[in-house]
Order: sequence, then structure tokens, then C-alpha cells
Amino acid sequence: MPTKERMLITGGNPLMGQVHVSGGKNTAVAVIPATLLCNEPCTIENLPDISDVYALVDILRSLGAKVDYVPNAFMTVDPRPAEGWQVGYQDSQRLRASYYLLGALLGRRSEAEVYLPGGCAIGARPIDQHLKGFAALGAEVEQLGGRITAKAENLVGSDVFFDVVTVGGTINVMLAAVKALGNTTIYNAAKEPHIVDLANFLNSMGAKIKGAGTDVIRIRGQQYLHGTTYAVIPDQIETGTLMIAAAATHGDVVINGCIPTHMDALSAKLLEMGVRVTDSDDAIRVRSVGVQHRAVNIKTQVYPGFPTDLQQPMSALLTTAKGTSVIQETIYENRLKHLVEISRMGAQVRFMDRTAVIDGVTELYGGPITATDLRAGAALVVAGLMAKGVTEIYEPHYIDRGYENIEQKLQSLGAVITREKGE
Ligand code: EPZ
Repeated sequence: MPTKERMLITGGNPLMGQVHVSGGKNTAVAVIPATLLCNEPCTIENLPDISDVYALVDILRSLGAKVDYVPNAFMTVDPRPAEGWQVGYQDSQRLRASYYLLGALLGRRSEAEVYLPGGCAIGARPIDQHLKGFAALGAEVEQLGGRITAKAENLVGSDVFFDVVTVGGTINVMLAAVKALGNTTIYNAAKEPHIVDLANFLNSMGAKIKGAGTDVIRIRGQQYLHGTTYAVIPDQIETGTLMIAAAATHGDVVINGCIPTHMDALSAKLLEMGVRVTDSDDAIRVRSVGVQHRAVNIKTQVYPGFPTDLQQPMSALLTTAKGTSVIQETIYENRLKHLVEISRMGAQVRFMDRTAVIDGVTELYGGPITATDLRAGAALVVAGLMAKGVTEIYEPHYIDRGYENIEQKLQSLGAVITREKGE
């Protein structure tokens, strides 16, 4: 019988030492499509070496752009030869964020066609607010059989009011509006660090965007954007996952190259659990040697609240904290499945709709478990690092979507983690 790829972790080793965080995935997947808006070649640095980035390179090339990508060094995109405006079904499916090609192509040439990226394990992820924003800028938007087509004679700046705070919607409307005629104001905008980073990237090309990082973003459309060289911010979710892994193994880890203020919500919760967290300019030290973790409650919120993307690894950590933790997932309807898997390892969890009640146990036990999405996979890695014996994580490709060299980084801190390729 053919074997399936799996990650193998022998738990129980405290993580010790220093590790460097990679560039942000959720910034990268916005900034790479944004190069299509430039009228000259531009260069991006500090991109994470992850599968979503490779998918975008292929998509930009299929549209006709010239892409020179040297992983861990730079990516130079010359968008001038890009004549394409359609992203096919299979390419659209390769990454969730393929929908940013809608905003970027609409901004570039007033026409775009992309397929919906398909079902998602964490629940429904509608993009009605993105499409409402495009329509407000004057695009005719048609959705047929999963294919979204948006076209305009000319995009014209406008007011866009979001009914829900949406990261993707805010980014997509920024992309479409940056070269529109006149002014656009986005109300009830999301405030995540990668929105600020995208605005900084576009402004470095000569765009006129103000207010990114607040809930009102004002954009003055520009016809010509010049080339730039820009380094994306470090990944706050990778940083947080490493912080949680350090705490979970009762280790002592310095995470270098991060932005500590982006981590405030997580740091506050770890401190509440009894973990020691200290910041410097671009590093965070997490110490938990000999600490008995206390249970805490988590309610996911938009930035600067506790991020849904860290709820999964954090709730894995809480399965062994002393006492009862209540986890409320308010952003996605189905983002607690990792706890079902971790229950197989001995965790005590009760579920009520989007809430999980975790009664901390003293130990988890390794066994076969399956990742169902990216951060669920990260949560299973945290559980495996804590557990007695060997944990086998199936479907580890989900983890590769957002974590660069996760095995090597954890090995360098003393974890026993390997991968067996499938046949
Ligand atoms: C971004 O997803 C991130 N992805 C997600 O990270 C992250 O979990 C999420 O923001 C929340 O922080 C990227 O940046 C590529 P939303 P996005 O639009 O943009 C509802 C990860 O693991 N909504 O802010 O898709 C939606 O259903 C990924 O790295 C609408 O109703 O999230 C959800 O409940 C997973 N209509 C809420 O808003 C819309 O048109 C927030 O979604 C759009 C969203």
C-alpha cells in the first residue's frame, strides 16, 4: 500500500536557542499581485519561501509578466509585458489569496477574471464585500459558475463602506483604487499590519494612500507608479507560533527579526498564563522553564485583538494548562477542528457551536493525526512537541503553505521533528 507523506515529532524536548522569523505570508500574497500595478519593474525582498509564493510566481508569468525569483534573496517583477487578465480555474485554486489578482488586474487594466478559490476547511469565506467595493468604483461584476469577471470603462474613485471588517476586502479595494480616477475612501477598513505594509509598498511606488492601520483609508488615484525596492514585514503568525511552541515545551527561545508590537495580544495572554515574555527592538524572548501554565480565555477579534490565526496553536497549548480555558472563535464558523484531532491525543475538550471549553490535562500522547488547514497544522505541531511519544501528522503540505522550513527551524531549537515523503 502506498505511504502518505507525514511529519514525525518526538515530543518532550524543551525548545532552546535563537531563531529568525521569515517574511510575512499574508503580506507576500498581497504585495506580489500588487506589482502588476507598477509601470516599471520592481523588486521585493524578505519574501517567505513558501508554496503560496511559488503559485503566485506561476500566475504572474502566465499573465505575461517577467519574474526573476531567487528564494531568500529577491523577486523582481517586470509587469510591462503582462497582457493577460484572466486567471484560470486551476491556478485560482492553488492559493486562497488568488482573489487579490481581481483587484490588481482591475487596477492595472480595468478588467479581471479569476475563479473563486473554492471551499475552505475553516468555514464559509464569502467575498461579497470585495465585489461590492469593485462595483462602487464603477466595475461591472459578474459571478457565474465560480468565475468572477469584473470590468470597467474607467475605474472612478468612490466611498466604500464595508458591512464587516474584512482584511481581504480592504486589500482588494486598495489594489483596485490606487490607479482609479479621483479619490476613494474605505470606511470600516481592517487594520492588520499587512494592510499597512501593502500601503507602504504601494506608496513607495508613488501611490497616495493615507490612513492604513486605521479604520478609514483614503486613496488618491495616480496614473503612473514607478519602480521600487521593498522588503516585506516579518510574519507575525509565524512569530506567534514560535512563541507558543517555546512556551508549550517549557523552553527558552529568542525570536529574532520580528516586530514585537504586532504580538501584543498574544504576549499579554502568555503573560497571563505565567510565561515570561520580554521584548527588545526586533526580538522577543519567551521563557517557560519550570512554569505551570494557567488556563486563560481567548476570544478572537480583528487586529489589534487576539488573531484567529493564532487561536489554533494557542488552544493546542491550553490543552495542558491548569484549569479550564474557554475559546471563542468569532471570525470563522469552523476553526476548531484541530481540537478534535488533539482530543485523540488525550485533550479534554467540549464544543458548543463556535466555542470550545478545554479542561487542561497533565499530558498528551502522540499518535496519528491529520492537518485540515494551515493553522490547524501548526496547532498539531505544537501538540506534538508537547506530547509523550511520537506524533504523526498527515497532510503536512497545509503547513508548508505558510511556514518556511518549519522542520529545520524547530530542529535548530532542539525539537525532534522529521518528514517522511509519501510514495
Ligand atoms: C485574512 O483572510 C487572512 N488571509 C487569514 O489568514 C485571516 O484568518 C483573516 O484575514 C482574518 O484575520 C490573508 O491575509 C491571505 P477576512 P480573509 O476577509 O481576508 C467575513 C491564514 O491562516 N467576510 O478578514 O479571507 C468572513 O466570512 C489565513 O493565514 C464576509 O462576510 O479574511 C470572515 O468571517 C486564514 N464578506 C470575516 O469577514 C467578505 O466579503 C473576516 O474575513 C469578506 C469577509
